[in-house]
Amino acid sequence: MDIFKNWTDDHTKKFRKDIITVKHRLSETGLFTDEALARLLNKHPSQKLDVCTMGKGTELFPNKFRTGDFRDSDGKTLIEAAKAGKIWINVREAMNVHPEYKAVLDQMYGAISDITGEPTFNARGGILISSPAARVPYHCDQTETILWHVRGKKRMYLYPPTEEYLPDEAYHRIITNDREDDIPYSEDMDKGAKAFDLSEDEMISWRLNAPHRVDNQSYCVSVTTEYSTKESAFKNSVMFTNAVLRQKFGVDSRWADASMPEKYVKSIAGRVLRKIGAYDNPDSDDMVTFKVDKNAPGFIVDVEPYQRAF
Ligand SMILES: [Fe+2]
Repeated sequence: MDIFKNWTDDHTKKFRKDIITVKHRLSETGLFTDEALARLLNKHPSQKLDVCTMGKGTELFPNKFRTGDFRDSDGKTLIEAAKAGKIWINVREAMNVHPEYKAVLDQMYGAISDITGEPTFNARGGILISSPAARVPYHCDQTETILWHVRGKKRMYLYPPTEEYLPDEAYHRIITNDREDDIPYSEDMDKGAKAFDLSEDEMISWRLNAPHRVDNQSYCVSVTTEYSTKESAFKNSVMFTNAVLRQKFGVDSRWADASMPEKYVKSIAGRVLRKIGAYDNPDSDDMVTFKVDKNAPGFIVDVEPYQRAF
């Protein structure tokens, strides 16, 4: 099966240098129907499953996610919760863990390698099942990411990957896992954004690290995939070194100001520093603050917070 319906030479030219959207055939696999997804949720390991709802957050970090306990609900109930309430389900690495989904992931990345002539490595894919009211807050991804929208409608806002939209400090925190992947956001940044209404079976890809946020317009099913390239691995090693320099010595080094030789040295240092754990992370516990409950309005019951251990 040819996974793309309308990939052209122009898409090849712009891939990873600009934003492109292309129609694909994921829904034709039959793996993304409600019935198939309910079966998937029943067998997926709980450690790789996140069921969240949107919190109030703060002014700079709106729509922060809250962690939910889903252990009393079967796959069918979780799908109903996503259709009804404000639930966002991330079936992490679903495309890697289960052979029938892995076969499709291999086709997706095989097609991209064939088209671009470049190898892809460490490709990972998760499945997002989300409510009509779900929103993914402003953030950026540290590897090459593609959103393969499959069912429903979502609007995606993409911002330029410049310091104005993504300060180096915020990126350091992402690289070092110092905090969750949010970066500071304010509404007037929308002036620099491009909005895309994604329809069924449409993928979108953008420049490395370009910040984005997503508003659902209906119940949605999507696949997100990510993989490392030489470019992303190089940048992340340099940024790790800069993060350590900032934390240990208060040195402020900007990515944009650095010469190529400086970046080269820092990329080697970054790999070593990461290995020896040179960056001190504050302990951050994943706290559960609600439970999925079939009989509750919106399937959500608030609970006294407790640490996630499942
Ligand atoms: Fe993302």
